[in-house]
Amino acid sequence: MIHSGRVDVRTGVGSYPVFVGHGVARVLPGLVAERAASGRFALISDSNVSPLHGERLAEACRVSGLDPTLLSFPAGEASKTRGRWMTLTDEMLEAGLGRDSCVVAVGGGVTTDLGGFVASTYLRGIPVIQVPTSYLAMVDASVGGKTGVDVAAGKNLVGTFHPPAAVVADTELLRTLPERNRREGLVEAVKHGAVLDEGHFEAIERRCDDLLRADPDTASDVVLASIRIKADVVSKDEFEGGFRHVLNFGHTIGHALEAASEYRLGHGSAVGLGMITEAAIGERVGVTAPGTRDRLKRALDRLIDPAPPGLTLERTVAYLGQDKKVRRGRPRYVLLACVGETSRGVAWTHDVPDEVAHRALREVLDAA
Ligand code: GLY
Repeated sequence: MIHSGRVDVRTGVGSYPVFVGHGVARVLPGLVAERAASGRFALISDSNVSPLHGERLAEACRVSGLDPTLLSFPAGEASKTRGRWMTLTDEMLEAGLGRDSCVVAVGGGVTTDLGGFVASTYLRGIPVIQVPTSYLAMVDASVGGKTGVDVAAGKNLVGTFHPPAAVVADTELLRTLPERNRREGLVEAVKHGAVLDEGHFEAIERRCDDLLRADPDTASDVVLASIRIKADVVSKDEFEGGFRHVLNFGHTIGHALEAASEYRLGHGSAVGLGMITEAAIGERVGVTAPGTRDRLKRALDRLIDPAPPGLTLERTVAYLGQDKKVRRGRPRYVLLACVGETSRGVAWTHDVPDEVAHRALREVLDAA
C-alpha cells in the first residue's frame, strides 16, 4: 500500500500539484523558491498554529536562503473578516513585499480561506501555497481555489476563485490537531464519499478509530482518496457552474446553522447536521433512497457535536435566504440519490417546498 502521493488539479490556465503524505512539508522551500523570484514571502498562520508549525516551516525556508515575513492572527472563525484581511495586507505592504513574493498559508480552513483571499487581492494577485494542517483544510478548503471571508449576512459571502500554486498536505501536522478538529474535519471526507464514492464512505467508517488518532498511514490514504475525489470535481467545474455544487451537499442547511449559532457550532458539525437534514429532505420529496438519512447519521454521530441550545428554527431559516446557491430568491439543495451518488436535479441542485425543509430541520434541532 502506498501512503503518499501527488494529485494534479486542472484549472482554466494550467494545473497545480497537491502533495500528500507523511513528511511532505520538506518540499516547501523548493516550491517557494519556484514561485517567489525575490525569495520573499508572507507566512500566514493563526496564534495556535504559528508556534506549532509556522515558525518551524519559516526556519526551514530561511535555512534554504529564503526570506519569510511571519504574520499571525488570533485563532478562530471570528478572524475570517474583511478587517483581518485589511490588517494582513497592510502588514505585507509595510514589509515591502512585491509582486515577486508569495503567500504561504499554514493552518486550518480559516487560514487557507483568509490567506488565499489576501494573496488573490494583494497587488492584484500573487501566488499562494497552501499548507493545510487540519483534515478539513487538507481534504476541502485548501484544494479548489475558493477563498473568502465571512460577513454579517453570512459565511464566505465575499471572496474570489484563486487557485493555489501548490498544496502541501503533510499528514504529520495532524498530530497536533485537537480532538474536536479531527472529528469535525473528517465530516468533509465523509461528504466526498456520500456524494460520489460509497467505497470511500465505507472506508472512513471502517477506519474511523485510526483516523481519529491521526495514524499517519491511514490519514495519508484517506486524505489522498478524498483529495482525488475533490480534484476530479473541481477540475471538471472550476467555477461552480454545475457539477461542483455536489460538494455543497449539507452546506445549504450547514452554513445557515453555523451562522445562526454565531459560529459556536463548528463547520464540520454544522455540515454534518446539514447532511442529515438534507438526506431527510431528499427522502421526503422522493429523490433520496429510504434509509440514507439513518446511514449518514450512523457514520456522522461520532464525529459531530449536537446543535447548541437556543439555536432556533426561525433564526436558522433567516440565513437560508443568504446562501450563495439562492436562485430567484429560493434556497437550492444538493440531494443524494443514495450514499455514493448525487441526484442531478437542475445543475445538481433542487428547489424543495419550504415546509418540507423546515420540518426536517426542526426534527434535527429538536433532537439536540
Ligand atoms: N467546499 C466546496 C467547494 O470547494 O466547492
